[in-house]
Amino acid sequence: MAYTIYIVIKTVHVTCALVAYVLFFSRGYWMFSDPKRLEATWVRVVPHVVDSLLLASAIGLVVVTHQYPGALTWLNVKIVCLVLYIGLGMAAFRFCKTRRSKLIAWVLAQAVFLYIVIVAVTRTPFLL
Ligand code: HEM
Repeated sequence: MAYTIYIVIKTVHVTCALVAYVLFFSRGYWMFSDPKRLEATWVRVVPHVVDSLLLASAIGLVVVTHQYPGALTWLNVKIVCLVLYIGLGMAAFRFCKTRRSKLIAWVLAQAVFLYIVIVAVTRTPFLL
């Protein structure tokens, strides 16, 4: 039973990570090519729902697998990088005013996201 719960939560977590990336990439692409698409209701709502599910499933995984941040460097790194990713995303879509700075923040956010996935899969913050 516990294993089934783990598999379900992990599947939700990994699926949300994939969908969150596709949405993040698409929103950035539209920001540069066709900004009006960012105003669609689903584009404003769905990413927040997916990000919330990603975070909720992350908490679920921490509890179910007893892998707690604090003790595990790779989890601490994931959390710090998640904050960095959120900040860069806010910079790209909200705070940056020029096309160039938006592009830099958008690309850096994706690099951080990729790093989070590498840390998750390898369970080691191998760059540190
Ligand atoms: C953008 C944010 C995140 C992404 C893209 C992400 C991605 C992933 C991926 C792809 C895996 C599967 C790794 C594998 O076993 O092959 C995973 C596992 C895991 N994630 Fe995340 N994650 C994110 C945020 C978080 C956060 C904030 C936490 C909680 C501190 C967390 C906790 C975990 C745990 C505990 C596992 C391992 C589960 C196990 O032992 O099988 N994740 N994550």
